[in-house]
Amino acid sequence: MLQGKHIVLGITGGIAAYKSASLTRLLVKAGAEVQVIMTPSAREFIAPLTLSTLTGKPVITEFFTANTGEWHSHVDLGLWADAMVVAPATACTIGKMAHGVADNMLVTTYLSAKAPVFVAPAMDLDMMAHPSTTANLNLLRSYGNHIIEPASGELASHLIGKGRMEEPERIVEVLREFFSSKGQFAGKRVLVTAGPTYERIDPVRFIGNFSSGKMGYAIADALADRGAEVVLVSGPVGELKPRNPRVEVRKIESALQMLDECQKVWPAADMAVMTAAVADYRVENRADSKIKREGNLAPELRLVENPDIAATLGASKKPGQLLIGFALETDNEAAHAANKLKRKNLDAIVLNSLRDAGAGFGTDTNKITILSADGSAKPYPLKTKREVAADVADFISSLLK
Ligand code: PMT
Repeated sequence: MLQGKHIVLGITGGIAAYKSASLTRLLVKAGAEVQVIMTPSAREFIAPLTLSTLTGKPVITEFFTANTGEWHSHVDLGLWADAMVVAPATACTIGKMAHGVADNMLVTTYLSAKAPVFVAPAMDLDMMAHPSTTANLNLLRSYGNHIIEPASGELASHLIGKGRMEEPERIVEVLREFFSSKGQFAGKRVLVTAGPTYERIDPVRFIGNFSSGKMGYAIADALADRGAEVVLVSGPVGELKPRNPRVEVRKIESALQMLDECQKVWPAADMAVMTAAVADYRVENRADSKIKREGNLAPELRLVENPDIAATLGASKKPGQLLIGFALETDNEAAHAANKLKRKNLDAIVLNSLRDAGAGFGTDTNKITILSADGSAKPYPLKTKREVAADVADFISSLLK
């Protein structure tokens, strides 16, 4: 899986830098081409000569070589990389990456990288547990970076706790898993819906809901990262954009418009993942001009039912097509979700409950259980929405097999 892959290995100034020699050797042995970038303080922990000997390439630390004036382009490196790995990642570099403090070659390359970035933190247990570190790691996660959690054990301070950089063998395994999942959806055409729908009351008001689109956009990215051609039909979600440039976004406002776009895509799609929170009702007596206060009389809104988009697609599902729904519930969760799965002719439904802290609308995290048409239920722990999207993608991939 790593044969011929271009890996930028960023090494920062922590005692675990000694492990990066083994990591480099394992990557090279697995067939990867490795370019090492070190922060200035990393050179205090491990000699660049060791790493350049292992990779067969000069180690880059500075923006240019002083005696020749040769410029090292972080932009070119960012484009060259199939993956960037920062191991060990100190609290300082994690903070700089999270906030875009581009004062060295490693962080500028990170900011230019188009490839996935893996961060393996290594630090003392108190630094690791500090809210600043937690917040910075959460920021990096929310930008789509992969955090390779540190292990617990004896640290350089001789204290025992969480902060040891994950072993090089495990880091290589994480990269292998990542690249092996990449082709899972090659050639598959996927429809994803995301965000809320807005149902207009008059030109300035609407009925909507709290969906931010984060879950649906993460699903679209996860599937596109794994090779799918994704059309994302999205309700109003502000400035949110997919991270993967291959996701085609079609913006809509109302449920009727969402249905229309979905019906254009569905006949030729291999699967659809319905993450959107679609308004079940629209206003029948919508006003063409702004409704004004008139005396003490509140305006009367007549609601009519919107079409059920998932059920409409489910009714025309052909053999070989997969239809995955989402269900946000507040009570009697499993029963409601199972009922929707059946009623809409879904192959699986991803249940999230507002009773779980950190799950549902607007958050960067979610906690899901995937119910299948065969009656099985697979619960997952609380994770970031990007990690949840990866789990959903892996689950769908298992259905393809
Ligand atoms: O956008 P975020 O802030 O990240 O939040 C994510 C989320 C909570 C919106 C998402 O995880 C989620 O649960 N989406 C489904 C919301 C929901 O409750 O859907 P539902 O129970 O009303 O519908 C069940 C399924 O039918 C869903 O797949 C929905 O997209 C689909 N549906 C529903 C009504 C309708 N008229 N047409 C539909 O297609």
